[in-house]
Amino acid sequence: MNHRLRCMTCNASYPPGELRYVCDCGGLLDVEHDLAALRGRVSRELFDSRRGDWTLPYASGVWRYRELILPVDEAVIVSRPEGNTPLYRSQRLSRWTGIDDLALKHEGENPTGSFKDRGMTVGVTQARLLGVRAVACASTGNTSASMAAYAALAGLQALVFIPEGKIAYGKLAQALAYGAQTLQVRGDFDAAMRLVRQVCDDLGIYLLNSLNPFRIEGQKAIIFELLQQREWEVPDWIVFPAGNLGNTAAFGKALYELKEVGLISHLPRLAAVQARGANPFYRSFVGGFRQRERVTARTVATAIRIGNPVSYERAVRSLRWTEGLVTEVSDAEIMDAKAQVDAAGIGCEPASAAAVAGARRLAAEGAIRRGQSVVAILTGHLLKDPGATVDYHLERLEGIESAYANRPRVIEPTLEAVREALAGRA
Ligand code: F0G
Repeated sequence: MNHRLRCMTCNASYPPGELRYVCDCGGLLDVEHDLAALRGRVSRELFDSRRGDWTLPYASGVWRYRELILPVDEAVIVSRPEGNTPLYRSQRLSRWTGIDDLALKHEGENPTGSFKDRGMTVGVTQARLLGVRAVACASTGNTSASMAAYAALAGLQALVFIPEGKIAYGKLAQALAYGAQTLQVRGDFDAAMRLVRQVCDDLGIYLLNSLNPFRIEGQKAIIFELLQQREWEVPDWIVFPAGNLGNTAAFGKALYELKEVGLISHLPRLAAVQARGANPFYRSFVGGFRQRERVTARTVATAIRIGNPVSYERAVRSLRWTEGLVTEVSDAEIMDAKAQVDAAGIGCEPASAAAVAGARRLAAEGAIRRGQSVVAILTGHLLKDPGATVDYHLERLEGIESAYANRPRVIEPTLEAVREALAGRA
């Protein structure tokens, strides 16, 4: 039972041990599993029997599904372990979005604070299999934090390219702390992405952005795990933020494969949410995917500030498989949604809040109908962009009204001043 690399464009195939990210024709590669052979071998019972296992690899919410991710020897796996993230429900958020049956899968509660850990455990395991010494990525924060941590765990050198001045401080701290060599590039994320591809080709360093098909395999486990948590009951919708389109690619592939191997009988609809100032995929969608659009990206949600997403073709395929759609939301909608998720006691970073803002918009527009079940994916942790959060509550974000601001106040150190402050609030 073999897996192979398969080109989406020209159908060429390559052995999985070949060091490459794209086909000779330039097309994107998939990790292709022998789904016919897996049909009899994987089952809900098999995956359910691994729940509650405290030891690796099954303690990982990625490697629990190893047959559908990457069939490798346990000894090479590099795992924290990751995954096993909660599905939250909140009456407050149900009311605010107008969606009674709303659950939030919090991928920010992964070891380094984002869903990237799911892709990275597989990408770094593959790096080890290939015998490379160094790995690299371009990142606005989460990818670099995750890669730096997993590279350290595996004893690999890590090289991180970040857009100068456009990375959240906590994330830069993680990359430095985990020991990654960090290069700040004068340019935006798309420029850093172009550069890292050249560097990897030229210097033989292994690229761990989501162009890498093994990253996509790990991120499929978000879907596997959320369905298992729902006892394999498929929701009507899965709503998530979309920037570089790695998750859009992974989610469609995960669902397609689950159906092919007989674990689910129908697919939910995918809804990808973009920020209005970083909406190339939305524009392509509106144009019926006749044309691939590119933009210069501008949004408060740094994680999805991407104008030329690399997984475009894979993402289009995912939407076709799932009758999916793309919507867009403004920065104000994103930050208000974030304030609501945060005030519910759950918390997330801005890009994740785009998912909730998008779900609310789709419900208001009637695309998500009353009574339908929705799972929104929160992709990153509240502490990712603390500057944006504090500025929102201080009503300092340009062009945003801060409808739910929770302003701190400065007072004299007296009981009277506290009384006054509390009375003012009541
Ligand atoms: N949400 C968060 C929290 C992210 O960090 C990212 C990407 C995305 C969503 C968009 O990912 O569309 O590829 O699935 N962050 C990259 C990074 C850019 O460098 O950490 P998608």
